[in-house]
Order: sequence, then C-alpha cells, then structure tokens
Amino acid sequence: MADVKKIAVIGGDGIGPEVVAEAIKVMKKTEEVFGYGFEFEHGLFGGIAIDEKGTPLPEETLQMCKKSDAVLLGAVGGPKWDSNPKELRPETGLLGIRKALGLFSNIRPANVFDCLKEASTLKPEVLEGTDLIVVRELTGGIYFGEKFRREGENGQEAVDTCVYNVNEIERIVRQAFEIARTRSKRLASVDKANVLETSRLWRETVIRIAADYPDVELEHVLVDNCAMQLLRRPASFDVIVTENMFGDILSDEAAMLTGSIGMLSSASLGEGAFGLYEPVHGSAPDIAGQGIANPIATILSVALMFRLTFGYHDAAEAIERAVKEVLDAGHRTGDIAVDKSKAIGTVAMGELIVNAIRK
Ligand code: IPM
Ligand code: MG
Repeated sequence: MADVKKIAVIGGDGIGPEVVAEAIKVMKKTEEVFGYGFEFEHGLFGGIAIDEKGTPLPEETLQMCKKSDAVLLGAVGGPKWDSNPKELRPETGLLGIRKALGLFSNIRPANVFDCLKEASTLKPEVLEGTDLIVVRELTGGIYFGEKFRREGENGQEAVDTCVYNVNEIERIVRQAFEIARTRSKRLASVDKANVLETSRLWRETVIRIAADYPDVELEHVLVDNCAMQLLRRPASFDVIVTENMFGDILSDEAAMLTGSIGMLSSASLGEGAFGLYEPVHGSAPDIAGQGIANPIATILSVALMFRLTFGYHDAAEAIERAVKEVLDAGHRTGDIAVDKSKAIGTVAMGELIVNAIRK
C-alpha cells in the first residue's frame, strides 16, 4: 500500500456533509482498486462551528487542516447566519482558512460535458469546445485590504482598500503560466488597467514574467470586456488569471456556461503540494437534508486533489471516467435532469459512480 495520506474533512453546512459523504466513498473505492491509503479526520467549520463553538473557524479545525496532506471541504453558509456580525459569519471563516493556510491560488475549471450541453442557457454552438480554467488570486486585493466606516461630510462613509504587492501578483501569474503550459498554451490576464493602479502593477508584472514563457500566447483583457467575451467566445479561452474579486465574479460566470454549477470542482493551492478542494457550488440550504444534491462537483474535486496534490493520475482519470460513464448512461440528479421525474438522489448517484471506478 502507498503511504497513507491524511485528509482533513470539513462537511460544513447545508448539503455540504451530504456531498462530502459520497466523495469519501469514492476515495475509499480507490483504496481498494488502486491500493492508495487515506486517513480521514473530521472538523467543524462554518455555520455549524458558529453554533457549536462560537466561531466559524475553530482553532482545532485549523490545526487539523495544517497537519493534513489535503483538505476536502463541502460548503458553508446559510440564511441562519446571514444577519450575524462579521466575526460570526461562515464567509469570514472561509476567508480566514484561505489566509491561514496560505492558499493564494484558486483554480476553477469550467468544462462543458457534451451530454449536458442542453443544461446551459447558452446555445450549444457557442459552447462547443469550451474547456477553460479560471486561476483566481485568493488571499489579496480588496477582500483583505483595510475596511472601515467613518463620518464624512455627507454622512456615513464605508471604505474598502485594494492592495496588491508585486510578489503576490508574481506568484499567482507564474502558476497560471505553468498551468497554461500543460494545456493549450494560451493565457488571458484579466485586469482593469485603464482605471485601477493595482491593475497597472498587475499588467506590468504579467508582461515582465511573460518573457520567461515565450511558448505561451498571452492576451490582456479588461475585466468588463472579459465578462462579455466569456459569453461570446467561451471556447477561445484556455487559462484566465486574475485578481481576487474579478476572479470571484468571472468564475461564477464561467461556471454557468456549463449550465451545471453542480458539476464544477475547485482547488485552492499555496506554494507546495498541499491543497484545499471543494465544489464551486454553495451549501444550497433550500435542498439540504433532502438527499437530492448533486455530489459530482465534490467527487470531481477529489479527482483534482489526486492530480494536483498527490500525483495519483490513474485514480483521478478513473474517477473522471466513471462520472462520464454514469452521465452518458443517462443518470441525472435533479439539477441537471431535463426530465425531473426521472432524477436520482445523492446517494444513488454516488453509488453509481463508485461502482464505475475501475483500473
Ligand atoms: C467563492 C465565494 C466566497 C468568495 C464567499 C462565500 C466569501 O463566493 O468562494 O467564490 O467570495 O470568495
Ligand atoms: Mg464566489
């Protein structure tokens, strides 16, 4: 058996625990089939941690993550905590864990499954061949700049500051160039350099680093134009690299191209192999506890973990193949079903995928 990898498991809120349970079954199946070994430790995080521990990110959960080789996260948040003060919001825990674990790079692939094209709101001919990755800077920019309120001449003012230093830009941009190298060798750097100083530093840095990657074709796209081009010519993008807030917005847009946010996985990485893996979708409180959530995004996040953190390419491929096989056979959860009356539940979908995993 290969060395045992420690996985920190955080189910979180809403449908989080339901989809994570299926992803764990998938990991256990790869132990049987490929001889890998995993040890799972569970921790509280998000709304449930606020309820039980009085903080969205308890110290013991953070320590558990730091001692692990990778983190598998479900989702956090829900209406119950929406009107809480900032320190007692699940989102604050999410930002805190990213920062504390040094996860500066968020990788969100958006690829269109052929058999699900009809689920998108875009015309199939526009989507044809769409397979892109948004590489989002995750621990800088306006999310983490100084924030405060003050009394101005015309009443109360609120201030959010956006700061980027050249090192923060350089490390994410290098990572994006490296990823582009392993794919179609096209990188779109997205900024607002016609207005923002942080974007001008971003663009200068990208141009300087591009000299080290002459084999990668680079384009600079202004963020407003990028939002438009994503709908107009999604297939022409390969890797998109951008700052924290632009990446937040564009990755949701890119996700919707595929018509099925329930299918999309993501990785958050730092300098080394360690990573946090989670579905792009949220905690979906409206369908929590009903056993109808789509577990595929979380299962595909395991495939990403195998590839990016462990280098278990055989098992990653087996998982992706199993998902495709089950979808090609016509099985659908409610979110991606055309005929909702034939939809299957979370556990049934998980089982079908587990059973389709083989060497
Ligand atoms: C995301 C989410 C988070 C973000 C929220 C929940 C804080 O939208 O992961 O994209 O804005 O980063
Ligand atoms: Mg978001």
